[in-house]
Amino acid sequence: MSRLAINGGTPVRTQGYPAWPVFDDRERQAVAQVLESGNWGGYPFPNCQAKIFADRFAGAHNARFAIPVANGTVTIEAALRAIGVGPGDEVIVPAFTFEATASPVLQVGAIPVFVDVLPESYCLDPAAVESAIGPRTRAVIPVHLAMNMADMDAVMQVAARHGLKVIEDCAHAHGAKWRGKGAGSIGEAGSFSMQTTKLMTAGEGGAIITNNQEVFELCQSYVNCGRASETDKFGHRILGFNYRITEFQAAILVAQLERLPGQNRLREARAAYLSRQLAEVDGLEVLPRDDRLTSQAIYRYVFKYRAEAFGGADRSRFLAALEAEGFACEGAFYEPVYRSALFEIDPEKFPQLEGRLPWARVRCPVAEKAAYVESIWIPHEALLGSENDIDALVEAIRKLQANTGELLTAHNPLIESKSMSRAGRANKAKQK
Ligand SMILES: Cc1ncc(COP(=O)(O)O)c(C=O)c1O
Repeated sequence: MSRLAINGGTPVRTQGYPAWPVFDDRERQAVAQVLESGNWGGYPFPNCQAKIFADRFAGAHNARFAIPVANGTVTIEAALRAIGVGPGDEVIVPAFTFEATASPVLQVGAIPVFVDVLPESYCLDPAAVESAIGPRTRAVIPVHLAMNMADMDAVMQVAARHGLKVIEDCAHAHGAKWRGKGAGSIGEAGSFSMQTTKLMTAGEGGAIITNNQEVFELCQSYVNCGRASETDKFGHRILGFNYRITEFQAAILVAQLERLPGQNRLREARAAYLSRQLAEVDGLEVLPRDDRLTSQAIYRYVFKYRAEAFGGADRSRFLAALEAEGFACEGAFYEPVYRSALFEIDPEKFPQLEGRLPWARVRCPVAEKAAYVESIWIPHEALLGSENDIDALVEAIRKLQANTGELLTAHNPLIESKSMSRAGRANKAKQK
């Protein structure tokens, strides 16, 4: 008789992860108050709720200024423009990230140069950054992901040696701290996303933080149709766009920010508990936590899988079987951006690429291995439950290891879908 749920056995767990997003009367009242006020939009900028949120969000990350905006892509675009990146410039980006770290670079007329990540953190490799610097390099975008932050000491040293500006992509790092400094407050600017799945959310939304008043004024002009703020004394006139956030979103984010520190602490505790147990499972490797990460933000709990310890079952088989046991996780959560179907670039539409598609030749072995072979990404809400939930997850993993014969022979449509990339699955879903 089968034991594994993927073959018809009894799953370890039948209820899903704790629901996300989390909300209560704070969000209900916040939305109702904005509704009743009739003051719904982002103009004048920043509007009332947006200003409250900006001040609190900046404070929470030890930054002087925050600019709430529509999402965590235009944040990067505005920050790049504010630090003066433009046509023909090169910007160094980790290969292992979401496509939106790199697409704003193209949007401002510059060229993303992809470099590898470190195997112990999956974040930007500072030595690879240094090797990729050329005469046109202007900036670098470290991305804080996989429960870690990029080594900001090393990144800032490389940047200082070569006169580069640093924009931190903190889409996964709300509330994280590096040596007590908030994510996004160490470089010239930090970019945050508040899209549905993120650690705090208004469905969509974003924020830029900075300590530099000139960068602040330029960003806020850029996202507000080019208008100068009341405090702007720099007098730069620029062509701007409307990337403002609504009052509904900002009011929800005020409530979400109140909840963030408690949720981060809970996730941190559950992650530590899970790491202690996974360290005992042969064939799994937990990413070590850097001592300089003084507050951890966990958007995805990430560990490495080695098929040899599971009878040779590749990651897609493991993931499909784990999902059947009640624990859905992802494998190719990100692809190296230069290989992603979401990053298909027509050089004719980006004149800066004429004669060179730099990433066509790029190979980043650590990112490739992480994406296609070894990394497993557990959603953060899985860490918002009890220790018993974590015990059940570990029990499911041990069950798969104890039944590798079944794991290797399982036939299930889930296996096919688990072996495809997100882009591949999205394309397939569209075709249906
Ligand atoms: C690393 C990273 N950067 C940027 C973004 C873009 O954020 P948004 O979806 O809010 O535009 C995301 C969103 O998934 C992300 O994960």
